Amino acid sequence: MIEFSHVSASYDGELAVLRDVSFRIEDGSFVAFVGTNGAGKSTTMRLINGLLKPTEGQVLIDGTPTTELKTSELAQRVGFLFQNPDRQICNNTVREEMMFGFKALGKESPEAEVRADEIMAAFGLNPDDDPFLLNRGTRQLLALASIIVLQPPVVVLDEPTTGLDFRECTKVMEIIRRLHERGTTVVMVCHDMEVVADYAESIIVMSAGRVLAQGPTYELLRDRVLTQEASLVAPQMVALSLALGSQHPQLANTAVGQANTLSEMERALGLEIAEGGEPR
Ligand SMILES: Nc1ncnc2c1ncn2[C@@H]1O[C@H](COP(=O)(O)OP(=O)(O)OP(=O)(O)O)[C@@H](O)[C@H]1O
Ligand SMILES: [Mg+2]
Repeated sequence: MIEFSHVSASYDGELAVLRDVSFRIEDGSFVAFVGTNGAGKSTTMRLINGLLKPTEGQVLIDGTPTTELKTSELAQRVGFLFQNPDRQICNNTVREEMMFGFKALGKESPEAEVRADEIMAAFGLNPDDDPFLLNRGTRQLLALASIIVLQPPVVVLDEPTTGLDFRECTKVMEIIRRLHERGTTVVMVCHDMEVVADYAESIIVMSAGRVLAQGPTYELLRDRVLTQEASLVAPQMVALSLALGSQHPQLANTAVGQANTLSEMERALGLEIAEGGEPR
């Protein structure tokens, strides 16, 4: 479990960029941090992986404050994907990059190499490629693969889909979904509310260095006061069903006014769309 208890943080020791932040992330959950630029999301991620220490309060990983954990201990518990993958890629070949984490932890082994081979194959990565010559999407996949190969119980992903096209975004997110289904705790920062709505079970809403709310994704994204306060754009289908409900109050508490996804709206409207998207 990850727990923040009344955490404040600062980069220069004076200006607090996080103030009195408290939340808990249970093992096995899939949580997204959302909020405007500068809200403090990346700072919160840096506190989870111990790159930054709180000026007040405590960050606890499985009950132990990060201030008492060695970097190597933290690295084994929490895999971290930076906002920019180029900040973590540092080897000359894809294979070396995949093995780098094992090397840093002194855990190179034949089993580790087999696992790296399996993941490179699953991700469609060529072991001999030069990481710096790969395109943005593939570098992001490599950065993610080099974390997953270490099998950390928690992954922290700071904007894993930024700069990716739709196909790459879906590929990365489906990998993350499978990781979560196999029991990994996923903590993700994401600006795209459609992605957040599709994948995250719950969200933590931040604004100006504070946590405004934590709760089930759709429940919070349907809260107009909250989304306005945090300047969040609700996913399209949520916005549509809310608009229908407010323009036609008799619909507000029906399946149409409550639909969160396209398939819920189709069901609510009694439509059946055949495979391939053509109406029957
Ligand atoms: N390395 C740093 N040194 C000093 N101040 C910083 C540093 N990184 C971030 N800040 C400041 O801390 C505050 C929170 O920034 P943070 O990067 O955590 O926000 P964010 O929610 O991740 O924003 P974004 O959506 O733009 O990535 C901002 O005011 C930012 O200017
Ligand atoms: Mg950020």
